Amino acid sequence: MISRRDFVRNGAALAAASWLRPWPEWSANDAIQIPGVDGMIVRSEHFLDLEMPPEFATAWITPVNHFFIRNHMHEPSTVDAEDYELTVGGEVEKPLKLVLNDLLKMEPHSVVNTLECAGNGRGLYRPQVPGVQWLKGAVGTARFSGPRLRDVLQKAGVKTTGKHLMLKGMDEVPGKVPPFVRSIPMEKALDADTLIATHMNGSPLTKDHGFPARALVPGWVGAASCKWLSEIQILEKEYEGNFMKPAYRFPNHPGRPGEAIDLDDTHPLTSLQVKSMIATPLDGSVVSGRSVDLQGVAWAGEAEIRKVEVSSDDGATWHTARLGRDQARYGWRLWSYSFKPTHAGEYMLLSRGTDSRGRTQPGTPAWNPSGYLYNAVDRVKIHVQA
Ligand code: MTE
Repeated sequence: MISRRDFVRNGAALAAASWLRPWPEWSANDAIQIPGVDGMIVRSEHFLDLEMPPEFATAWITPVNHFFIRNHMHEPSTVDAEDYELTVGGEVEKPLKLVLNDLLKMEPHSVVNTLECAGNGRGLYRPQVPGVQWLKGAVGTARFSGPRLRDVLQKAGVKTTGKHLMLKGMDEVPGKVPPFVRSIPMEKALDADTLIATHMNGSPLTKDHGFPARALVPGWVGAASCKWLSEIQILEKEYEGNFMKPAYRFPNHPGRPGEAIDLDDTHPLTSLQVKSMIATPLDGSVVSGRSVDLQGVAWAGEAEIRKVEVSSDDGATWHTARLGRDQARYGWRLWSYSFKPTHAGEYMLLSRGTDSRGRTQPGTPAWNPSGYLYNAVDRVKIHVQA
């Protein structure tokens, strides 16, 4: 646990972070560490996994207490802001050891990013696949802030041989489980929007979201954004480990549902897919009146959402929804649509997004046995009363 005292003691960090809300406010968010608070769905208490129910997806910026949590291991049991160290080594001219204050003194940059777990929607795959049975809410949008990763790399002086970055966190690894370690290519690491985030929605990161510093790799699957970041190694090639292979890979040629895949014919997951979600009405709702207001969100990783459409006749005809005004390069768009039922009874309402790369959500997801990147059109069944 990180105590309030730790923050108050850390006066230097407080001063350096004056461009954002002060540190002590962080402790007000402490409650998120109690599983199930604030209406979140508890997928696992052992390694904390919390899912956001769809009805919370009506805000452009997801409040921290509604932001999903995905942990592969135990969170670090103690994280002291004063003892925190980030090392940068490997293919660099000058290996670094940075303390939190070093990061807080660097020029900050903010990125509104929709973070989605690669396994979001896994519970909707048929046949069912093993793994956390996320439905729709392992996704959220937040404003992440902190120094650019490239500014840290510049201090270290990356050698020309440095092509990939291994990112390691302070997770407590149980037994023989392989540690959660992944790498990202240098090109993405040097992107002006890739951060070492210290803040989320203007407050210091909570412990569940990677306090005191995490990687933020915008537009990519959440797994790239290593929490409790403690070590960066510059490598000549991609990191080899369980979470790069076999985990977090996608088939180059997705086959038929249920089919096995050849691991050598896969690639590591990077950018997110085009996807939309109906936030309200909820699946199974009973509604009345001449119109039903649909609200939701749509996102597309490194691409932009161009349109969202709604269908009430199983995709025979589609109607364009209104996109919300708020937008940011890696942030989702809110959307709304006023549906006018023609008769009382049951309706299956569908939503689908299309992005700036011309990708449109498919009727069925691309099959892969790990259940990654589910992005079939979203569906909710409602009953309209006479
Ligand atoms: N970083 C560490 N160190 N350990 C983890 O288990 N989980 C990853 C990523 N970073 C993880 C991690 C996964 S799979 C996701 S989807 C995101 O963190 C979730 O971030 P969040 O819990 O802040 O929502």
